[in-house]
Amino acid sequence: MDAVTSLLVRAYRGDRPERTPVWFMRQAGRSLPEYRELRVGTRMLDACLDPALAAEITLQPVRRHGVDAAIFFSDIVVPLRLAGVAVEIEPGRGPVFESPVRTREDVAKLTAIDPAEVAAAAAPVREAVGIVVDELGGIPLIGFAGAPFTLAAYLVEGGPSKEHLRARAMMHADPDAWGRLAGWLARVAAEFLGAQVDAGASAVQLFDSWAGSLLPSAYRAHVAPHSREAIEAVRARVPVVHFGVGTGPFLADMRLDGAVDTVGVDWRMPLDAAVRQLGAGVSVQGNIDPALLRAPWPVLEAHVRDVMRRGRAARAHVVNLGHGVPPDTDPGVLTRIVELVHAETADP
Ligand code: CP3
Repeated sequence: MDAVTSLLVRAYRGDRPERTPVWFMRQAGRSLPEYRELRVGTRMLDACLDPALAAEITLQPVRRHGVDAAIFFSDIVVPLRLAGVAVEIEPGRGPVFESPVRTREDVAKLTAIDPAEVAAAAAPVREAVGIVVDELGGIPLIGFAGAPFTLAAYLVEGGPSKEHLRARAMMHADPDAWGRLAGWLARVAAEFLGAQVDAGASAVQLFDSWAGSLLPSAYRAHVAPHSREAIEAVRARVPVVHFGVGTGPFLADMRLDGAVDTVGVDWRMPLDAAVRQLGAGVSVQGNIDPALLRAPWPVLEAHVRDVMRRGRAARAHVVNLGHGVPPDTDPGVLTRIVELVHAETADP
């Protein structure tokens, strides 16, 4: 099977294939002992930029679980590192920046970097994607990037935060500086997505994980146009998934005026309710509650079946979690979900 005609790509584009595809956000990572073993002694961002290592980590969950897609092992801050920004990922904490970008001057200094630098420095990314695509045969690889707001949520604070107050404040206190920062981040994300698609990724997902902290009107005015810009160049080439956590109050806006093929839904909203908000003409991805991964199997099984039943309200559905795999997840549970989904057919 060709990656272009894979179940996943067909579902993203709106055709309901014979069987519902399934993969998991953060399937490559700490829930796998083989991942923890490979990562010993290598820092996260160094692992992302080691082509052989990144490729092997990307392939691990495909071999183990038999999922219908690989997601490229990297991180949302990798394109910033490629642009020359001083950033590290602290274990157990997340991305940390040496110099937070808080003032107009900070923004001017950062945005003086040409986003084309990302493409120029992305050779290890293209190489890793190339290895993965060769090894996968017909299984599709999903490329990804962080959306401008979620990147800014880290960059403006200088590290992880709960409510992303500084980034949310900047768009109101200095809309001009915000616009320049978010526009630059959109071009950086676009370069990173383009590098992955050039090297053979079959679909892309834009992660706006923290968009749920925004007022819907702020999302529409100050965020959505930049997210749209991030996917504009790749969307004619591959299907685009757009995901955020807690975006229920403005879920339809996540369609980005029709630029998006599939909207990722978190666990808080049943998929049939999500489809009512989204309207026709878009596929959905999600939304097993990660908390249920710790429930006894019959409880989890009933939940997965319910997610699949509600997913039939959409033109097509790709099964996933409502957010990433928690690090302490028993990987056997994920394999069992894949088996269950594969045993069901999409159309009864
Ligand atoms: O399997 C996959 O989904 C692909 C790889 C992937 C990673 N990060 C690997 C990673 C993807 C798609 C991401 C995206 C990412 N990174 C997001 C958006 C997705 C989401 O979860 O909402 C965000 C917000 C980040 C920022 C980030 N990077 C965080 C919050 C963390 C966790 C910090 C921690 O240690 O708990 C990271 C680090 C990170 N990215 C890890 C992995 C496997 C863990 C690092 C490790 O193993 O030491």
